[in-house]
Amino acid sequence: MTNTPRESARGLDFSEDLLAIGWYHSFEFPDGGIIDGYMPLAVQKERYARYPIPDDLSGKRVLDIGAWDGWFSFEAERHGAQVMAIDCVEIPTFLQVHRRLKSNVDYRVLDFYELPAAGLGKFDVVFFLGVLYHLRHPLLALEIVCGLTSDVAVVESYVIDADTWKEHQNAIPTLEFYEMFELGNQYDNWSGLTVACLLAMCRAAGFCRVELMFAGGTYAGAACYRKWEPAPAQPANPPPQLLFVSNSRTPGNCFSCRKSEEYLECAFEAGHDKEVRPEDLRLEVSGFGTRAIHVQRKEDGGWAASFRLPPALDSGWHPVRLRFADTGFSNELRIAVDVPLERPAQIVVKDVFDGKSWNRGEVRIADGGFVSFWVSGLPENRSAPALRVVLGEIPLQITFIGPMEKSGFCQVNAKAPPDVPKGPHDFLVKFAGVSSESQGVTVF
Ligand SMILES: C[S@@+](CC[C@H](N)C(=O)[O-])C[C@H]1O[C@@H](n2cnc3c(N)ncnc32)[C@H](O)[C@@H]1O
Repeated sequence: MTNTPRESARGLDFSEDLLAIGWYHSFEFPDGGIIDGYMPLAVQKERYARYPIPDDLSGKRVLDIGAWDGWFSFEAERHGAQVMAIDCVEIPTFLQVHRRLKSNVDYRVLDFYELPAAGLGKFDVVFFLGVLYHLRHPLLALEIVCGLTSDVAVVESYVIDADTWKEHQNAIPTLEFYEMFELGNQYDNWSGLTVACLLAMCRAAGFCRVELMFAGGTYAGAACYRKWEPAPAQPANPPPQLLFVSNSRTPGNCFSCRKSEEYLECAFEAGHDKEVRPEDLRLEVSGFGTRAIHVQRKEDGGWAASFRLPPALDSGWHPVRLRFADTGFSNELRIAVDVPLERPAQIVVKDVFDGKSWNRGEVRIADGGFVSFWVSGLPENRSAPALRVVLGEIPLQITFIGPMEKSGFCQVNAKAPPDVPKGPHDFLVKFAGVSSESQGVTVF
């Protein structure tokens, strides 16, 4: 009779061997000393060599998450990196090696979920080895890892189909959940992913390129990049032209990294007549790549594509540019991320039209209630939630906030709900507490 509600159904219980040996990692020291841990040195070297880690890491910051005895931290330091290692508990064997090597690795006892608030900045290379399945929120965990990475993260984890994944690689990715002791007889093992699921979750977390480097036994490992591959030196085609970028949930050019997800809607001219597929597109926000989710041709022959906002952007203005796999980059536009709103000195509204008939000073509910108008005085960062458009007492839904035109005005489109009473109304626009003068608009 067991006192654990679910016995270990998945093997991997090496706790007794480990207890007997006392070390997980093995070490060889410059003075010839050797520590034979549970994992042979040759296996550690093979694991390190699998990944695209530059041989010369001088000037690079490396973060080793869940370092345990720290072989990967000390190996990166040996290659010249400035290394930070974190673990949720202080591991005495790590400190023992640290002293023996007179290491400068910055060792912090931090829980994984404390990392975003710890103010550590970004790291060129992040090791996320053997930790994912220990964490309760795997997609959030990968997004946090992505946010800490400026170049590449090495993500290695327990998977449930390392030797068979190719047989069902097109099936829907699967995650096994372990409530109790099912994996390795340990209560802090939460999930087992298929290889396809690991790769899909790394992409969904925000890495623009994810390459499987190893799958075998009970593990798989991927190199997860935040940047696109270099643009071709000799582009086959001219670059696209980026016409407009908006937040697809809240029209305008304002985004927030405090939200769980934000999407960029980009309008562009392809510069050729071929079909455009999501996998052809390479969008960059401040150098961080993001994958296209959806692309469609518009009625005017141009294209619209949506992308996730890359995670963990700093507050401020960020350049956005687009290329195809076989072209150079487009012109740059810019978006505001967590930029505080400025209060305008004055707001002027001109030319309120019905958006279908283009009759001035009218809105026709039977034609959809579309309203278009031009407004000046708004700051460059403008977002639908800060803009209030009212017809009589009734707020309108803002569907589009255009770029600043040469005239100093920008176009705003809105939609009146069907219950606006017919007849004349006062129409006015408010932004960050400043109101335009009202003008008369008749609802038909
Ligand atoms: C299986 S070991 C991996 C060791 C090493 N990274 C490797 O792959 O050889 C998992 C490590 O993650 C650490 N860990 C587990 N949960 C953690 C958490 N919530 N925050 C930080 N570290 C954690 C454990 O203490 C342990 O050192």
